[in-house]
Amino acid sequence: MQNNNIILMGFMGVGKGSIARLLTKETGRISLDTDDLIESMENMKVKKIFEQEGEAYFRQTETKLSRWLEQSVQNSIISVGGGFFHVDNLQSIAHVVYLESTFDAILDRINSFENAQKKLKKRPLLQNMTKAKKLIAERHPKYLACADSVIQSAGKTSAEIADEIIELLNLQKK
Ligand code: S3P
Repeated sequence: MQNNNIILMGFMGVGKGSIARLLTKETGRISLDTDDLIESMENMKVKKIFEQEGEAYFRQTETKLSRWLEQSVQNSIISVGGGFFHVDNLQSIAHVVYLESTFDAILDRINSFENAQKKLKKRPLLQNMTKAKKLIAERHPKYLACADSVIQSAGKTSAEIADEIIELLNLQKK
C-alpha cells in the first residue's frame, strides 16, 4: 500500500469524512481531509475560493496539496474532495477506495442530517441538482479508472462502510 495511506474517493456527500473519522476511531490512524487542508493553506473556505479565485485555482491548489501528500504523509486515511481524481499522482499517494453510490442515495443521506441545508450550501457544485446529477454520471468512469478498490455505498451506514473497508484492506484495529 503506497506510503501505507488510504484515500477515500467519491462524489460530494457520499460520507468520505464521516467514514474517515470512523476508521480513525477503529484503527487509530490519523485522518486528513483535503478540503480542510486547502482551507488552512488558503485561509479561506472552499466556497469562497470558488467565488473569489475560481474553480481552476482550486484545482491547482489540489495539485499542490497532492505533491505534499505524496512526499509527507504516511499511515493515514485521506478523505479527498469529489474532484480530486484529476491529480496525476494518486497512485503514489495511497491505495484509492472509491465509495460508489447513486445520486438519490447521496441526496437521501444529506437530507437525513439536521443541518442538510448547510451541507448543501457549502458545496458550490451541489447548487443546481440537474447539473450535479449530470456531474455524478460523468465522473463515475473517472472514479472507477483511478480506484484500487470499489465499495458499494448506497443505502449503507458509514459504520457499515468503515467495517467493510477494514475487512477488505485487512486493517489492524487498535
Ligand atoms: C468538489 C467537492 C468538494 C470540494 C469542492 C469541489 C467536487 O468536496 O472539494 O466543493 O468537485 O466534487 P466534498 O466531496 O468533500 O464535498
